[in-house]
Amino acid sequence: MSSMTEFPVLFIGDEHKKEKVKQILSPLVLTKSQQQEVSSVFLDEMRLGLASSPERKSSLLMENTFIPELPDGTENGEYLALDLGGTNFRVMYVKMKDGSITEEIVDYYHVPEERRLGPGAELFDYLAECLGNFIKKRKLGGRNLQLGFTFSFPMTQKSLDVGILLSWTKSFNCPGVVGEDAVKMLSDAIQKHGGLDITVTAVLNDTTGTLVQGAYMDKRCALGMILGTGSNGCYIEKVENIEKWHGKHQEAEMIVDIEWGAFGDNGVLDFIKTSWDRAVDSKSLLVKSFTFGKYFAGKYLGDLYREILLTLSKEGLFCSGNIGKLDTQGAITTTDVSNIERDNMQGDSETTRKVIEGVGLTCDEEDLYIAQYVAGLISYRGVLLVSLLTSILLVRMERPHCTVAIDGSLFQYHPRFRPLMERLIAEFAPGRPFNLLLVHDGSGKGSALAASIAERLQKRLGKGKANPLGGGSSQGVPHPSPQI
Ligand code: GLC
Repeated sequence: MSSMTEFPVLFIGDEHKKEKVKQILSPLVLTKSQQQEVSSVFLDEMRLGLASSPERKSSLLMENTFIPELPDGTENGEYLALDLGGTNFRVMYVKMKDGSITEEIVDYYHVPEERRLGPGAELFDYLAECLGNFIKKRKLGGRNLQLGFTFSFPMTQKSLDVGILLSWTKSFNCPGVVGEDAVKMLSDAIQKHGGLDITVTAVLNDTTGTLVQGAYMDKRCALGMILGTGSNGCYIEKVENIEKWHGKHQEAEMIVDIEWGAFGDNGVLDFIKTSWDRAVDSKSLLVKSFTFGKYFAGKYLGDLYREILLTLSKEGLFCSGNIGKLDTQGAITTTDVSNIERDNMQGDSETTRKVIEGVGLTCDEEDLYIAQYVAGLISYRGVLLVSLLTSILLVRMERPHCTVAIDGSLFQYHPRFRPLMERLIAEFAPGRPFNLLLVHDGSGKGSALAASIAERLQKRLGKGKANPLGGGSSQGVPHPSPQI
């Protein structure tokens, strides 16, 4: 039985084999000095990402989300939310009264592969078609509805309702969208569809939605995070630190979308990259991108695990050197890795055996221990990396207490994530009290809340203007209150 907060231990009797396995896997163990290096590289990339004329390009986007305030309890009205980022997308209707969500309706739609990889215009037509179905089915026609669009990809935002796609990530790669405004594409598709009175007033990332939803649940929330298929974080930054946002600004603070999935795409994290990370990358849809995400995110953890077992088999150290389906991409999933970790935590090996036998291998007890050890090592490394980044943000924000809102299957189902994050963050950021808050549906509800924030800002800062916070200059704009 293993504790999920301790460093994994390999329980096998054969000392020679044990040493050999540990030695092969040693690149997965981050030394103290490598951990320090990750932290200082992250800080430096953040600095460069916020700078107005950086000496080199940062791998961190550090994007201004144009959300300068959080739910304040005055939210009233009906809003729509559309949440696109994975193989399923959601359309949501949310009704709010005095800051509380009083009604919510959500429908899920599948985004088939041909839509995720086909022409962009067709993807947006499909979104408008689903929106149309939703409005009809839920009898929501006959009034104008404002929509918050969660578009969980790297964007450059020009205002709260303009988001230019920089690159696709995860399982999307539709031609004709990079360099375009996702809001315009969606609005055009809605118009083309006809009969829909919907105005897209806010575009945001899923991490931002998670932070906003987290703040709705707990006012102390200042950090949003996705630990799921993909991974990303956003936090509240002082506007004076966002050097690249030119002009004078009345806003004191702003949510900044870090886009940490791409951390290291410029090579700055190569010092921790193993041959297995390279193998996972080379077989991925978008090679040489999403470096940090590929170290642990749900889309990759299963394949990373499989690549490592494959090496051990080829070395004759696992399952008598047989490889079964270990050379087949997708043969082991991240859910399998989570289940193996749970098995280990409970002192069991039945699930582990099922997974290994499921890839056509016959295993003995030592193989099962090795399988559990490898799952522990890669999971530990992932949690460690996320915890290092989280701690840096906590220290930077200097809040008396910070609630960290987290959405995503990895955090929800992987048994090591929450307890180990709690231990490591406390160790890396002493004196910075925090709590981890699981936020369901942050990217959906958070998006509807963002639409209501957009409406509030518009009313306060100037009616009629498409977006008063846009254009990189909000000079003369009254100080929005309350600030985040
Ligand atoms: C990818 C996207 C990012 C998103 C994350 C989690 O990293 O680029 O925008 O927040 O996945 O879904």
